[in-house]
Amino acid sequence: MREYDFLVVGTGISGLSFALKAAEQGTVAVLTKRKSEDSNTAWAQGGISCVADPEDSFESHVTDTLDAGAGLCDSEVVKTIVESAPDAIDQMISCGINFDRQKNGNFELGKEGGHSQRRILFSKDTTGKEISTKLLNAAKECSNINILEDHFAIDLITTEKLGIEGQNSIVGLYALNEINGEILTFRSNTVVLCTGGCGRVYLYTTNPNIATGDGLAMAYRAGANVANMEFIQFHPTCLYHHNLKNFLISEAVRGEGGILIGKDGNEFMQKYDSRGSLAPRDIVARAIDHEIKRTGEPCVFVDITHKSKEYLSERFPNIYKTCLSVGIDPANDPIPVVPAAHYQCGGIQTDINGRTSLSGLYAVGEVACTGLHGANRLASNSLLEGAVIATRAYEDVIKTKSDKEKISEQIIPEWTSGDAEDVDELVVIYHNWDEIRRLMWDYVSIVRTNKRLKRAATRLQNLRQEVQEFYWNFKICSDLIELRNLVETASLIVNCAQLRNESRGLHYTLDFPETKNTSRPQNTVIYLNK
Ligand code: SIN
Repeated sequence: MREYDFLVVGTGISGLSFALKAAEQGTVAVLTKRKSEDSNTAWAQGGISCVADPEDSFESHVTDTLDAGAGLCDSEVVKTIVESAPDAIDQMISCGINFDRQKNGNFELGKEGGHSQRRILFSKDTTGKEISTKLLNAAKECSNINILEDHFAIDLITTEKLGIEGQNSIVGLYALNEINGEILTFRSNTVVLCTGGCGRVYLYTTNPNIATGDGLAMAYRAGANVANMEFIQFHPTCLYHHNLKNFLISEAVRGEGGILIGKDGNEFMQKYDSRGSLAPRDIVARAIDHEIKRTGEPCVFVDITHKSKEYLSERFPNIYKTCLSVGIDPANDPIPVVPAAHYQCGGIQTDINGRTSLSGLYAVGEVACTGLHGANRLASNSLLEGAVIATRAYEDVIKTKSDKEKISEQIIPEWTSGDAEDVDELVVIYHNWDEIRRLMWDYVSIVRTNKRLKRAATRLQNLRQEVQEFYWNFKICSDLIELRNLVETASLIVNCAQLRNESRGLHYTLDFPETKNTSRPQNTVIYLNK
């Protein structure tokens, strides 16, 4: 049994920011199911929002966030996070993170959909990579931080599971060492889930392969409340190319003048919203979906051909190079794009300090639902949320640290595999995996109906049962853990979507096309077994 003061799951901005702080107070294990550089953060292109221009204001950033969130943001949370942005940026800079600057030393500021001002700090079009690399370097130098690669957290251990009476609290977790197949027990009274989102629940996504809803499913199984999972953000502009799936064409390209056009060369967004190609993402993604269905074409295009090759290769080197590699020259050719699942706006319900409904369990970043995003996340608010809430969670842990007795080692059982055999037919896992992703895409994506949601719920129920049987009869492997988490996450999305009898933000249903006219719209909260 391994014991740490703090257990962190995930090596993105949230996990590493928390770990770097917590290491000042005690020992930290950071578990990641792949390599330390594999995180959603590392894939972020656009940047991080922060009021940095004298013409801009916190009020304006708050208003834009609330507008995008369609009535469901928690305004106190929004205000706190927006106002904490300059400090969060200062801390990042002190870790060596570079943001692009003008010749006079001021930040270069980008613009993205839904922002009324330029307020996105960026590092070319690989902002996430810059953040991830620098935070990892700092974490690797820290003697109190142990980064455990290829360690896949399977399930949380709680007092309730151990049959201990009183408030349900976290006492640790089980994790699979993917190198030798051993299942390890980790003990800690503080577990921080920073596992990112669940884009892989859908057939088409901008997310890396790791985004399988692991933390969310694990927390839900342990009894934590989950909220607003119906709000899955579809990024309007994922590259459409048969050789290159899930490559994002950053919204920053439209921020620099890129225009959405159809195959006929005509701009179409003005028909849908006066903000045109830079309207909030839910509006743009729905408009593209409508255009694709209307015209029967497989994609639309981002046209940035009015910018020179020199400008594009300097401002968007990664996008430019990647497009060229598949025969598209953005300086001459409009870039073919389609919407794809991009961001989970709901998640494990937390307060402004990342605290979940389960004592000792924190959730930070995309896996969490703090109230910042509401029914639709404003672009580039997520890296900011991760950095700010990680700091607040650390402060909360320290402030509320009690001398609570650690549960004795003897009471926590080691994992036993019983009579489980090695998985005999991996084809079952891959088949079920594909089925989930296809059905979620067909029935639970940009435009929903009651009938489609019901179909999805029925199929997921069967799949869930099959996966459970499989799970208990065979030895655990990472594909099986991911499948189990994927089916749990997909079911939570469908559950939440079925509970919302209106269209709001990212949840659009033909059965209830209007937004309910209420001054107090409700979150959709799911409690285990209730
Ligand atoms: C993008 O670069 O378009 C993505 C930014 C974000 O999702 O916040």
